[in-house]
Amino acid sequence: MSNEAPSRRHFLGGTAAGLIGTAIEPARAQLAPSDARAAPAQAEPFYGPHQGGILTPMQDSLYFAAFDLSATTRADLIALLKSWTIAAARLTAGQPAEPGRQSTDAPPLDTGEALGLDPSRLTITFGFGPDMFTLNGADRYGLGAQRPAALVDLPRFAGDELVAGQCGGALCIQACANDPQIAFHAIRQLARIGYGQATLKWVQTGFSTANKTNGTPRNLMGFKDGTMNPTAAAAPPIVWAGAEGPAWMAGGTYMVTRRIRIALEHWDRMKIAFQEQTFGRHKTTGAPLGGTNEFEPANFTATDANGDYIIPETAHIRLAAPVNNGGAAILRRSYSYNDGANFVAERWPPWHQGIEYDSGLFFQAFQQDPRTGFIKLFARMSKIDALNQFTTHVGSAVFACPPGTREGGFIGQTLFTAA
Ligand code: HEM
Repeated sequence: MSNEAPSRRHFLGGTAAGLIGTAIEPARAQLAPSDARAAPAQAEPFYGPHQGGILTPMQDSLYFAAFDLSATTRADLIALLKSWTIAAARLTAGQPAEPGRQSTDAPPLDTGEALGLDPSRLTITFGFGPDMFTLNGADRYGLGAQRPAALVDLPRFAGDELVAGQCGGALCIQACANDPQIAFHAIRQLARIGYGQATLKWVQTGFSTANKTNGTPRNLMGFKDGTMNPTAAAAPPIVWAGAEGPAWMAGGTYMVTRRIRIALEHWDRMKIAFQEQTFGRHKTTGAPLGGTNEFEPANFTATDANGDYIIPETAHIRLAAPVNNGGAAILRRSYSYNDGANFVAERWPPWHQGIEYDSGLFFQAFQQDPRTGFIKLFARMSKIDALNQFTTHVGSAVFACPPGTREGGFIGQTLFTAA
């Protein structure tokens, strides 16, 4: 994705005005002098063949929201997606959420906390969950037959401790930006616009140092995380759906989210050598064990003087690497999270009980098909990955992220044309 700022002409000639036929310019003038938000020096494009926030280089902050749908008709759902598309395009361009003339006798067209702020590379990504296609056997929107086979219900994995209130959803919206207030503002506007049609089910905030780190960012376990993620050149065939699935998903992708709590207190008492064996990488350099350079290929056959593998059999990278999984690959776009602290009874020796950080990784995997991506990889990892001693998966969801749209279209349009 380019960082090139869209021109002002581009804003004003955009879909919002075209679709709803409301005047944008007077509305902006009316809102307040501060409506003149800073020139969007850092705007990511919203329109295009693919949605943003997937191959887009990671931003600093995440605000992720899963929704239940209360729209009762297909027409209502389409209207919601149209309004959301317009608002999302405006927000990513640094404009107030809704076009129109603001009156002091009406609720705000934008809640205001982003006025004067740069869009901070905001991206907004929409995903459709299984419940949008059928809910309790009911095909509410006539979309049931269009549910892609790849939008599979995830199996129960070993060690899952899923909390119902942090799982699933009929629809998701991911907002990523270099400013947490911008990311929150975006979701807040969309939730507000969707009032009566879509209700929040669960949310997750996250943070990353991807933009601040000189090189690969580190996760809360102190290790470089993302080293072997597919490069920009290698990612497209791993991520984008193509002719193998329903035509409406071509150019889209499947997102798997897992809220993974990390027992940081437990981890912090481990010797560094043990931490390194857990991942199969050196903590300081990020190099695979036995190597010196972060990006050199891991040698999974090398053994020590005792004949033991230098990268242990249960090391995270040995179990996760495509080369050891018949080529199965995913694009990771995960954010660390810190949701305070609460009571935990550990499920590992010495079964400590007490107040612990509610922190970890909001893991996200994008792939062409979760059955040959996340599920294939994690089915084995969930049983024997050494990392499992420190991690508990407490949230889980899968979404079909449709392709991007052009100005004048709306997110998910191909689905409704197909069905
Ligand atoms: C809290 C949970 C997790 C943490 C802290 C974590 C951390 C890491 C770290 C530090 C690396 C090595 C550096 C890199 O290549 O990025 C790595 C690699 C990797 N992880 Fe995870 N990970 C977690 C969960 C998962 C899960 C659930 C999967 C599911 C499939 C996964 C898939 C991968 C893959 C595919 C690689 C690259 C392996 C390679 O090609 O060498 N990770 N992870």
